[in-house]
Amino acid sequence: MAERVIVHEVGLRDGLQNQPRMVPVEGKLELLDALIAAGVRSVEATSFVSPKAVPQMADAAELYARIPKRADMNYEVLVPNEKGYERAVAAGARTIAVVIAASDTFNRRNINMSLDEATLVCEAVVRRTKREGHRSRAYISALAACPYEGVTPPERVFDLTAKMFDAGADEVALSDTIGAGNPAQIEYLFESAIRRHGAQRIAAHFHDTRAMGLTLAWCAIKAGVRKLDSSIGGLGGCPFAPGASGNLATEDLVFMLNEAGYETGIDVEGLRRAVMIAERLTGQSFGGRMTNFFRAQDARRQAKAKAS
Ligand code: COA
Ligand code: ZN
Repeated sequence: MAERVIVHEVGLRDGLQNQPRMVPVEGKLELLDALIAAGVRSVEATSFVSPKAVPQMADAAELYARIPKRADMNYEVLVPNEKGYERAVAAGARTIAVVIAASDTFNRRNINMSLDEATLVCEAVVRRTKREGHRSRAYISALAACPYEGVTPPERVFDLTAKMFDAGADEVALSDTIGAGNPAQIEYLFESAIRRHGAQRIAAHFHDTRAMGLTLAWCAIKAGVRKLDSSIGGLGGCPFAPGASGNLATEDLVFMLNEAGYETGIDVEGLRRAVMIAERLTGQSFGGRMTNFFRAQDARRQAKAKAS
């Protein structure tokens, strides 16, 4: 039987948080419906952050109240602090993601905390999540490099990962927030983390800034990872990370995994509809690196239909 890989869709949060045009709740729900129709079952729905810091996520509670609650759907939400945790749980969220960057400057710019403060806050939220019977994921961002401090020392990543598991995190998502990783480095980081903590508890999150997204995703798969984040259409980029372009596109990741014989449960054709919706909502042109191939395929089909 084909081995299952979970493709965790982060477009509604990581993808939309940086968009200049405000996407209304109805639009987000329409995008979510299209993703679910394509077979997506794991979604980061929103973030409970300061609406001043990220206006696009100001509707988090309303959105969460209206997402389709299905037994087969796994929803996660991101929180930066205890206040976010309380808002998230009050809204009904049961899987909580915290975020800590493996760089002091990046934490200061992103969440206005030093690395040490961010570590304490994340540990406290993770412990509380567990105590109150919910699940947690901890993002370790700036995995490969920080836009302000340069290459991230691997020991810092391993140290933070261990601290998050010690606090009770169910999963750690090693995140190349600015798409700065190279295959050798990513292989080393994931193999080391998996040796220490097991493949079931380590997820991977890549951005496609330097066209390395798919390659790095494959490195993570070969290291044993079976849960990867991606964003529909490659939508994304962190507002606090200059130069960070979009996430690894869901359609590219799903295509690669399906072709390689892994079971994602997701239909690439179905994802194309979701890309079109994302384009309409944001007024921007998206699409992973598969887009040109799809367009050419459509043109050939249309020409054939016309000829017959
Ligand atoms: N949700 C909503 N409001 C929040 C909040 C949360 N989780 N945390 C803090 N606030 C509010 C406070 O109540 C306060 O409101 P007021 O000005 O009306 O009194 C205001 O935000 C400032 O609070 P403070 O604790 O001083 O925070 P800050 O200004 O130092 O900002 C964060 C810190 C973490 C709240 C903010 O930087 C943030 O939300 N960052 C998220 C960044 C992000 O989403 N990055 C991408 C994902 S990695
Ligand atoms: Zn990201």
